[in-house]
Amino acid sequence: MSGLDLSCNNLSGSIPPEIGYMINLLILNLSNNHLLGPIPSTFSGLKQIESLDLSYNGLTGKIPPQLTELSFLSIFTVAHNNLSGQTPERKNQFATFDEKSYEGNIFLCGLPLESCNTSGQSPLTPTIPDQKEDYSFKEAFAWSFAGSYVVAFLGTVAFLFISSHYRTIMFNFFYRQIICFY
Ligand SMILES: *[C@@H]1O[C@H](CO)[C@@H](O)[C@H](O)[C@H]1NC(C)=O
Ligand SMILES: *[C@@H]1O[C@H](CO)[C@@H](O)[C@H](O)[C@H]1NC(C)=O
Ligand SMILES: *[C@@H]1O[C@H](CO)[C@@H](O)[C@H](O)[C@H]1NC(C)=O
Repeated sequence: MSGLDLSCNNLSGSIPPEIGYMINLLILNLSNNHLLGPIPSTFSGLKQIESLDLSYNGLTGKIPPQLTELSFLSIFTVAHNNLSGQTPERKNQFATFDEKSYEGNIFLCGLPLESCNTSGQSPLTPTIPDQKEDYSFKEAFAWSFAGSYVVAFLGTVAFLFISSHYRTIMFNFFYRQIICFY
């Protein structure tokens, strides 16, 4: 069997995972029913599938991320269900599907829909304390630098004041430097 169209049949309950074992399917249309529950992750086994329509049902849960492995998929829609979480990664065939494939699922997020707000808010919060921390570090460094400078200067003055022998050597040294300079 290469095509299965059960659309508009008032089907209820969840999608049998065994449909994912029909590896020769090219077309699967289960749209316009009352199907509930998740999209079976076994659908990633439909290696030949070109058209997958699950729109207008009551499907819930996440879209299995493994569906991005279906390399012949050119038509894909899960519009008008109750799916949630992140849309599949925009790679392979999934890079070609626009928001029409996902519309009517208010809890779905991620490209090509709006980005999931948990990842949108997190980069802003750590930057403010970072800047504060950076500023106080620079301030502390400047104060400790100035403090060390004063201590070193006073230490040298005290040392030269106490030791007249080194004072003579020091003045001779500076005197020679000045002579050389001129
Ligand atoms: C659809 O199925 C429900 C029960 O699942 C039933 O009550 C309803 O009458 C059905 N509608 C049609 C048009 O057959
Ligand atoms: C699936 O079936 C519905 C109703 O019969 C139809 O409108 C829709 O175009 C079909 N989907 C595809 C991808 O052919
Ligand atoms: C969709 O799912 C949410 C929980 O994820 C539930 O609260 C809501 O009633 C569902 N809506 C429909 C129309 O099934």
